[in-house]
Formats: sequence, structure tokens, C-alpha cells
Amino acid sequence: MGASGQWTAGVLWVVLASVLADSWTAYQEQPCCRPVSHHRVRHHRDHIREFSCGSLFYRTLYLNEDRNTLYVGAMDRVFRLNMTDISQSHCERDALLLEASNVARCVSKGKSEPFECRNHIRVLQPLGDGERLYVCGTNAHSPKDWVVYLNLTHLPRHEYVPGVGLGVAKCPYDPADNSTAVWVTDGNPGGLPTLYAGTNAEFTKADPVIFRNDLYDFRTGQKKYNFKRTLKYDSKWLDKTNFVGSFDVGEYVLFFFRETAVEFMNCGKAVYSRVARVCKHDTGGKHILSQNWATYLKARLNCSIPGEFPFYFDEIQSVYQMPGDTTRFYAAFTTGASDGLVGSAICTYTMDDIQEAFAGRFKEQASSSSAWLPVLRARVPVPRPGTCVNNTEALPDNVLNFIRSHPLMDSAVRHEGDAPAFYKRDLVLTTIVVDRQFVDMLGDDITYTVFYAGTSAGEVYKIVQWAGGGGGGSRVADVWRAAGDEPVRALAISRRLHALYLATDNRLRQLPLRACAHRYDSCVRCVLDPYCGWDKEVGACRPYSPGLLHDATNSTPSICEASAPLKTVRAGYGQSVHLAAYGKTPEALKDQHVIWYHHSREKGRYKINYNWDRVLQTSERGLVLLSVTESDRGRYECYFGPTLIASYNLDIDIHRCTQPSKSQEYKQVYSDWCHEFEKYKSAMKAWESRQMVSLANIIILIPFIIEMKISYLLNRIWIEQILYFRRHP
Ligand SMILES: *[C@@H]1O[C@H](CO)[C@@H](O)[C@H](O)[C@H]1NC(C)=O
Ligand SMILES: *[C@@H]1O[C@H](CO)[C@@H](O)[C@H](O)[C@H]1NC(C)=O
Ligand SMILES: *[C@@H]1O[C@H](CO)[C@@H](O)[C@H](O)[C@H]1NC(C)=O
Ligand SMILES: *[C@@H]1O[C@H](CO)[C@@H](O)[C@H](O)[C@H]1NC(C)=O
Ligand SMILES: *[C@@H]1O[C@H](CO)[C@@H](O)[C@H](O)[C@H]1NC(C)=O
Repeated sequence: MGASGQWTAGVLWVVLASVLADSWTAYQEQPCCRPVSHHRVRHHRDHIREFSCGSLFYRTLYLNEDRNTLYVGAMDRVFRLNMTDISQSHCERDALLLEASNVARCVSKGKSEPFECRNHIRVLQPLGDGERLYVCGTNAHSPKDWVVYLNLTHLPRHEYVPGVGLGVAKCPYDPADNSTAVWVTDGNPGGLPTLYAGTNAEFTKADPVIFRNDLYDFRTGQKKYNFKRTLKYDSKWLDKTNFVGSFDVGEYVLFFFRETAVEFMNCGKAVYSRVARVCKHDTGGKHILSQNWATYLKARLNCSIPGEFPFYFDEIQSVYQMPGDTTRFYAAFTTGASDGLVGSAICTYTMDDIQEAFAGRFKEQASSSSAWLPVLRARVPVPRPGTCVNNTEALPDNVLNFIRSHPLMDSAVRHEGDAPAFYKRDLVLTTIVVDRQFVDMLGDDITYTVFYAGTSAGEVYKIVQWAGGGGGGSRVADVWRAAGDEPVRALAISRRLHALYLATDNRLRQLPLRACAHRYDSCVRCVLDPYCGWDKEVGACRPYSPGLLHDATNSTPSICEASAPLKTVRAGYGQSVHLAAYGKTPEALKDQHVIWYHHSREKGRYKINYNWDRVLQTSERGLVLLSVTESDRGRYECYFGPTLIASYNLDIDIHRCTQPSKSQEYKQVYSDWCHEFEKYKSAMKAWESRQMVSLANIIILIPFIIEMKISYLLNRIWIEQILYFRRHP
């Protein structure tokens, strides 16, 4: 290669460097704990299943494990999806079309045709016979209900279900309203099945209601008992209520909601969260409360950070009960709009604590200007208002009058542990589901409660909580960018299939709960996941089994020490070197710091300080050394807290420091750089294509995205290289 050849190469690089300076912010990190040859950047894309038939506002989920089916309530449609793999389902074949009637009337009342005047399905409840499904939808601001077969076909005419057809008080007029409903088969008067609902029963939204439909004998079609409801337009009973959940628990049905707090006496208004209870056997009073519940009680839910002035999360957003465990409710809360501070919390309530609040004192206000005070026990009539009796119509008038004016309990339901299981600022939780995971630690067994909480920003927080000798604790185990930027509207979880189902306005997604190998390629992240364990022998993350390294409570600081193998990195004199901390930056650790140490021959072991000239840190906590010299040799260790997460042995190739003297050597240098160039180019291509596919968002941060520092670094490498060629024509 002659002088002109080198000049051509030099010019080529000037051009390349200027072009690439703009676009090449991409850079690939090496994995920290595995041999390079095994490394493959793993994408969650492969493990997410997705289903969508367009923007249909998927909001209502019902999992039927027996049929392996996820039922989804959306706009004008109910879908039945294959739980094993929701992407296998079909938009037409697996849907029941339920379009709104009377769209014109809805539009004439000023509602929008493309959204409000459609039929948004808000209730999906099994009838308990393994064959039929109750469905209720907004039907263009004229709520309507149906009973269909679970295979989503309509019933034949002769199988007509009485009491079904008019959806008022069973699901809302407005698709924006927050409502709840539960089909209850056992324990109602006459043993007859029916629907309980919490919703708004008027077009104007003036009538929030807790409602039980008329009770019919399904065989004869005869009406046996009239509907029951809360007192109409009585703000002591319900006031501007947003319902979030309802549950059939023994002889009661419980409702969870938030509403304007009638007992709040300071200036302005406050919203409080509540749990309310009615007896299933309630048939109302004889003369007083004849259409209403005679056993309705409600209590405030306390979800607060303890302290001299507790900080309250007052707006319940979602509540969950684990199948097969009626002892606990798990709920997500946000701060009130008036609190000025945005934040969310998760609190747990035991059934015992809820019942204790209902067994406590009642609250009352003597006159509209006086304070709310507990009612003296001596003034509470007998039988105690709110207890379940065989025949509420036989209750004395003083009991019914008392209930009428005193539905609110004095004390709030305490939250388990008197503190939230989790809370965080600047986060809006929208929905929650819970799993439990037992880990056999060979004698040191532990049961985790694992919360999955969807956010308004499309994430799913995975929070692990444990009980233990030290009082237990909780921590964020992972954060998934699960839904792009769309708010998570609903979650469902299958413990059988280890799958999480997520609904947004535009799509449904299915995510694996145990994504060990797909998610973590470093021991330090793997051991903290309640479902995973690190296999030292193979250097891989696996679903936990006894013998694997596991530390979800984060109590064994050096557990991963032995699993961070020493890797040797060779670099030529004057080259730049990148040492990665993690394979990928886990979102949960994004704000955390690592410390790099260097064991040098001259200086011994010292902590590395960064500087812009030579020693940089990447956004993924990796270490970049520019223009290495002999003194950079030696061992590098990266610590996250007390845990060693990566270690390298850096070897500087002295041979390469001599100037190339023959054209053969220039060719070698040139081809090395071409090789590098190809690598960067393909990394950039991969990065670009990933940018375009929004589906890829679950990947915990694409490892290619790096701050300005790197483009600075790359520039600098090229410029050095170009100068080198200029200096040595
Ligand atoms: C559900 O999907 C799984 C996996 O694709 C398949 O094996 C199964 O047959 C499907 N079930 C139904 C009822 O389609
Ligand atoms: C749907 O299920 C019902 C009851 O199980 C059955 O009678 C009906 O034939 C089924 N329809 C279809 C299309 O499979
Ligand atoms: C329903 O709840 C959501 C989430 O808390 C809230 O943004 C929305 O305003 C509520 N709907 C109504 C009609 O209040
Ligand atoms: C309520 O009814 C059940 C069965 O019908 C009966 O065993 C019980 O004694 C009744 N309780 C009262 C307080 O009347
Ligand atoms: C809520 O719980 C906290 C912590 O136990 C307590 O300090 C506070 O007084 C409770 N608030 C109410 C309204 O009961």
C-alpha cells in the first residue's frame, strides 16, 4: 500500500467519522458473567405473546382455568383467548359481537359516537354452572346485560334467564366509570343465584349504588325477591363513588371503592377508600329500608406510612384476592389529587381486621356542623346493626333507623404490618395481582408474596415481600416495560401456567412469570428474583430448585462472589477498552451505583475515579478506559454494594505499541478496523430496527443505547486512528 493508499484510507475515515459521529450512539456491552462466545442479547420479545384486534379498549378480564380460557371484555366484543398462548386466538372466530343498540339516541344526548356510544363490556362473570357467562355492557349509555354460553354462543330462546336484559345498576352508562360486579350463587335468599354490583345507576351519574338484582326461580321464571340497593341520593351511604372490586366471602359480599369522605371536616373535600359489607341473606326492612340493604356497613381503609403524622394513600385503584385464599385482600392505592404529591402504595388487609372494624364502634355526627364522633356502645340497638340474621324484615325499627343513619364505622381497617408493603413517589399504580411462591431452601424455607402492579406508564412492578425472623421485608425485584407507554388497564394471573395477562386500550399481552434464563444473565440479578436461582456449574439463571443460589431477601451479600468468573481482556497499546458491569442494565438497578477497583502492579488495589479524559463510565455502569498504557494492566473488579458482579484481567499487548513499519502491518491495522467497523455497523442496524419495533419494549433497556460519552469515545478513537495514519504515512 503506497502513500496515496493510506491517504485514501485517511480521508475515508474522516468522512466516516463525521457521518458516524451523529448516528453512532450505539454500542454493545459485553456480558459480565459468561464467556463472550456464549453471549447473545436476549429479547423478551420471544417470550411475550400478544393479541389485538385494534384499539378496542380491552378492560375486563376473566380467567377460566377449567377451560384454559381468558375472557376479555372490550368495545362491542367479548373475546375468548387460549390461555396457553393468547396469540393463537382469532379476532372473528373467538369473539362474540355485541354491538350497541340506540346509538342515535346516545349521540343526540351529546355523547361521542366512536367511543361513548358503543357497547363497552364491563362485567364478565361465570354463572357457576361451568356453562354460562354473565355479560354486561354500557350499550351506548343504556346499559344492557346478557347471559351466553362460555363458548360464546347465545342461549336458545327456551333457555331464557329471567332478570337479564336491562343492565341499569349492574354496569355503568359511561365507559369511563369505575364499577364492579360479582355473580353470587350460594347464600342468597331462597338459595337463588344473582348478580351484586357497584356502579352508577343514572345517566347523570347522580346515583352511585350497591345493588343486588331481583331474585328469580330460574326453573319457573318466577320472581321471588325484589332487588336491594343502597339508599338513593344519601351521601352518608355513598358519594361520588368509584368502585374497584367486589367479593363473595362467606355470608357476606364485600365491596371496595373510593368516594368523597362525608366525615372529612376540614375545608375542601377529601376522597377516602372504603370497604363495605352486606349480608347475602338481607331482604331489607319491612317498613323502613324496604327496598334497601338492612345490613349495609362501611369502613375506611387505612393505607399509610406510619409516623407522627401518617402519610395517607387515600385513593384505592385496584384490589385482588388470591384464588383459594379468602383471608387477605391486596390493594393498590394512589395519593389524592389534592395531596400535591404523586405516589402509590400497596397495602394488605386481612379478613379478620376488616371484620374487626365492622365489629367496632359506629361513627356519627350529631348535627351538620358538629364533629364526627364514635357512638357510645350503650346507644347501639340490639340485635347489633349489620349482623346477619335470617330475616331482616323482622328487625325492629330502631335497628333499621340506626343503620339508615349510621352506615359508617368509626375506626379504619388497619393494614397488615401497619405499613404499606411497598410505596413509591412519582408512580401511579393502576392495577394489581398477586402470586405466592414457596422456596425450599433446604431447611431454611421461605414463602414470598409477589405483587405485580401495573402503572399508568406501561410498566409492571414486580415486588417481593417475605415474612421472617427479622420482621420480614419487601423490595422491588424487577420492573418490566410491559406495555410500551400505554397505561395498564387490567391484569390477570395464572399460577397454573405461570403467566401474567395484561390489557391496555390497544392490546393484550401474555408474559411469563418465570423468565429466569430469558431475563437475567448475571448471578447478582438472578438470585434476587423470587422464582429463580443461579446455577454455578453452568453459569445460568434457572427456575429455582434446591441447590441453586438464591437470595430474594437480599440477605447474603456475597452469594454471587464465586460466580463472577475472571475474564481476560487483551488490548493493544493506545487502544480503548470497555469492561461491562452487567449483561444488561436492569431497570431496578438503574439508579444504583457500582464501584470499580483496579489492582495495579504499581499502586495496589484502589477505587477508580472517573474523569472525562481517560476513564469513563457508561450509562450501564461499565468502565471505559481510553488509550490504555502499561500501567492499566491488572485486575478490575466491579462491586454492586458488597457483591462482586464482574471481574476482568486486563492485559496490554506491548507488541502492538511499536509503530507498524511494513505495509503488511498497516494492512493488518486497516483490516482490524474494518472488522470493528462491520461490528459497529451491525450493532447499529440491530439497534435501529429495535427502535422501530415498539413491541420490544419489555427488554430491560436495550444495551446499545448509551449516553453521549460513547459517541465522544468513538469519535476519539477514530480521530486517534486517523492521526496515527497521518503521522505514519
Ligand atoms: C391452545 O394453545 C396451545 C399452544 O399453542 C395448543 O396446544 C392448544 O391446543 C390450544 N387450545 C385450544 C383449545 O385451542
Ligand atoms: C356451546 O355450548 C353449549 C352448552 O355447553 C352447547 O349446547 C352448544 O352446542 C355449544 N355451541 C357450539 C357452537 O359449540
Ligand atoms: C376511574 O378511575 C380512573 C383511574 O383511577 C380515573 O382516572 C377515572 O377518572 C375514573 N373515572 C371516573 C368517571 O371518575
Ligand atoms: C336461621 O335459619 C337456620 C336454618 O334455616 C336455623 O338453623 C337457625 O337457627 C336460624 N337462626 C335464627 C337466629 O333464627
Ligand atoms: C392508620 O394507621 C397508622 C399506622 O398504624 C396509624 O398511625 C393511624 O393512626 C391510622 N389512621 C387511622 C385513620 O386509623
